[in-house]
Amino acid sequence: MCGIVGYIGKKQAAPILLDGLEKLEYRGYDSAGMAVYDGAQINIKKATGRLKVLNELTHGGELLPGTVGIGHTRWATHGEPSDVNAHPHFNADHTIAVVHNGIIENYLKLKNQLIEKGYSFISETDTEVIAHLLDYYYKKCENPLEAVTKIMHRVEGSYALGILFADEPDVVYAVRKDSPLIVGKGKEGNLIASDVPAVLKYTREVYFIENEEIARLSEKNIEFFNVDGEIIQKESKTIEWDINAAEKGGYEHFMLKEMYEQPKTVRDTLSPRIKDGRIVIEELGMTDEEIASIQKIHIVACGSAYHTGVTNKYIFEGLARIPVEVDVASEFRYRDPILEKGTLVVIISQSGETADTLAALRLAKERGIMTLGIVNVVGSSIAREADKVMYTWAGPEIAVATTKAYSAQLIALYLLAIKFAQVRGKITESETTELITDLKKLPDQIEMLLHNKEKIQRFANRYIAAKDVFFIGRGIDYAISLEGSLKLKEISYIHSEAYAAGELKHGTISLIEDGTLVTAVVTQKDLYKKTISNIVEVRTRGAFVLAITNEENTEIEKAADYVIYLPQTNRYFTNSLAIIPLQLFAYYVAVGKGCDVDKPRNLAKSVTVE
Ligand code: AGP
Repeated sequence: MCGIVGYIGKKQAAPILLDGLEKLEYRGYDSAGMAVYDGAQINIKKATGRLKVLNELTHGGELLPGTVGIGHTRWATHGEPSDVNAHPHFNADHTIAVVHNGIIENYLKLKNQLIEKGYSFISETDTEVIAHLLDYYYKKCENPLEAVTKIMHRVEGSYALGILFADEPDVVYAVRKDSPLIVGKGKEGNLIASDVPAVLKYTREVYFIENEEIARLSEKNIEFFNVDGEIIQKESKTIEWDINAAEKGGYEHFMLKEMYEQPKTVRDTLSPRIKDGRIVIEELGMTDEEIASIQKIHIVACGSAYHTGVTNKYIFEGLARIPVEVDVASEFRYRDPILEKGTLVVIISQSGETADTLAALRLAKERGIMTLGIVNVVGSSIAREADKVMYTWAGPEIAVATTKAYSAQLIALYLLAIKFAQVRGKITESETTELITDLKKLPDQIEMLLHNKEKIQRFANRYIAAKDVFFIGRGIDYAISLEGSLKLKEISYIHSEAYAAGELKHGTISLIEDGTLVTAVVTQKDLYKKTISNIVEVRTRGAFVLAITNEENTEIEKAADYVIYLPQTNRYFTNSLAIIPLQLFAYYVAVGKGCDVDKPRNLAKSVTVE
């Protein structure tokens, strides 16, 4: 959601900005722009649409000469996607340029105050307020840094800012509050960016800017300040992951590549945590006493991460016998949840930057409740702020639709549930061994399902023109239906809904018409018969039923029209297998429709505004 890149050094800035912005495309955007200082003044070019348009407009950056610049991809919040609303934004005399991620909550109040002081606005954005506010304070202050600290005291909401001052042309400022921003220390200049992939081509040495901190970059120096303008010391981190991980590597789409990385992702998340037949999660840092004293778990997350929480409610309750509540973060944070002593709040997030999820984490911490972050991005806000962290080792995920991070989250939560069950004495040694044996088989089983993609591909081709698709299941199968439905709708734009199979007849069944596709997930042996009767109900009303079930359940062929079989696994792990045909189905339908699979319309990879 919005991307920022900034560069200062010896090289031409604009091509570096374009390259970095391209690496942030996955975040979602609808316009882009750059500001570059040419030795005499700051020049800005902006364009609605894809980066390609900005690239053509500037001849690959050639028309914006200069070695200091900031760039931005905008995901519209205040004001429609348009050239004028695109960032960067100028002050009136074009001496200050600003790019911004986040939302300025008090922008209307500030805007009205600035209008009263004689400022005029040309865009509908909240960001333009910052450019004028900086102008206002800069005229009263000793230097640009002081003006930056002043606006931080006035602006409410979330922001990551990149700022250029024509009066201090050998400097780029970066400011952060509740919206991610990093600094890259390069050999031939320094960079700022919303995310690591944008700087990896130039450096692996990265500083994570914390909330209410300012970075001042020149060609050779990087300094950090707090909100009072006092200098602070920060340590850089070395990014270990491979730059190729952020490239397509011969696949048509990042989503396809990431689906194919799932066996590895699952193996990487699993293997370091299984030692001598036991689950050992070293980085968790929770003693057995702490685990034993947990009375209740709240799982809080958004989107697909929330769906992994829904799956694992069944598993934590089933295995560890701990009551679990699962909440969508945007609801949790405003519903004044009852969080009693002995509660553990588990926060799940691929990016570690999702605004609502981060706010939920902070709310739990404010109430003195222990928080555990299940996070993919190392060093992200949630990873840094949670009391305990468990990483999912999925590597960078670029496609907006999550696949491998989702699979890794499932694994991390299974491990946790088994660990908790072990410590609390709810499962025997031999049950633990059986669970671990099945866990270890998952990577190969996922590989096998991916290998058999043609069957799903052929089936998906028949549904390119579908209007509505329904996903049904019971228990854990309901949880996977939620994810299957989200995958399909987010990338193919086909309307779809997921329903607890038994709930359909309470209203939704009226939507079933001749030929409506209903995907039924049927992996829980004790519920086979129940879901099969739901299949029969929709089929008699004209539905075409695709069933995803265990290889032993051949009985289902009498009820369903088309069957995909899954290899045998523990009943708690079936979602890790059932998700594969569901992802492939969504992918091939979207490809067949000619959709922009990696960057679906209106969506952002990292939702850093609420
Ligand atoms: C899923 O494909 C989506 N991209 C989305 O639902 C995502 O899972 C959600 O926005 C949460 O993101 P996070 O894991 O980075 O917090």
